[in-house]
Amino acid sequence: MTTTVYLNGEWLASEQAKVSVFDRGFLFSDGIYEVVPVYQGHPFLLQLHLQRLHRSLTAIGIQAPTEDFWNNLVAELIQRNADPDCLVYIQVTMGAEAQRSHLPTSDLQPTIFACVSPLQVHWQVPQPAKVAVLDDIRWQRCDIKSISLLGNIMLKREAAARGAIEPLLHRDGRITEGASCNYFAVHQGKLLTPPADHLILSGITRTWVLHLAQQLHIEAVEEPIYVNQLHHFDELFLTSSSREVQPVGQIDDIIVGNGQCGEVTARLAEAFQASKRHLIQE
Ligand code: PDD
Repeated sequence: MTTTVYLNGEWLASEQAKVSVFDRGFLFSDGIYEVVPVYQGHPFLLQLHLQRLHRSLTAIGIQAPTEDFWNNLVAELIQRNADPDCLVYIQVTMGAEAQRSHLPTSDLQPTIFACVSPLQVHWQVPQPAKVAVLDDIRWQRCDIKSISLLGNIMLKREAAARGAIEPLLHRDGRITEGASCNYFAVHQGKLLTPPADHLILSGITRTWVLHLAQQLHIEAVEEPIYVNQLHHFDELFLTSSSREVQPVGQIDDIIVGNGQCGEVTARLAEAFQASKRHLIQE
């Protein structure tokens, strides 16, 4: 399906948009991306997404455009594409240069691309899903939202081969995150999630769920959790912009709780749905 995309100052039909084969994104994955969910034409938690984009761009030395630039870009992209529920993807690379060289030349113009992608919106809490425990083989700067997703993709494929929607990744037994999501566990009514350090991408949905937990007076702790604790968790769920709050009913052969969506997960998932409805009614 043809959509309208933004590429370096131009609005183009999706099939017309082309970048150089010397783009550093293509050659080296030298770039950053961001994903913003849009409900009924309203971007959800846009400012938090733009702050994370700014942090990632700064971390790899790309001069970040202003927040106004991004706000206008996202508004126009949504308006030019008729799909009211979608995901906005922003991709920024270091730019294209005349010759291949690991070290970028100093006068590069970043490549800026933005497009929309279909979003299957849930208005109810989804059915519990299965995840698979796998070794986190990725690099040590997972806090940067890099376009280099080869590790994530290999892990996602391995999880899919085991009938799971996501891997549950760990480093030496310490749980990090999924290939494209964060995890929360519930133990004796307390919400536990790994800290937002360099081993995970600090999800905007994660941040929002922590905020909702505070509003609902659910005690939440950001501290390391371990694979050897998995048997003891009463509930487990994952979060991401596209999956929102997704209950987990099974980890490999382990059934979590009674395999159904737990009470704390349900309260947070309902509160999440309510924030979406609130956004639309604003
Ligand atoms: N992925 N961890 C990783 C590795 C991710 O790729 C993502 C998001 C998250 C959750 O972040 P957020 O809540 O801000 O979506 C955690 C997006 C959805 C993607 O790659 O499409």
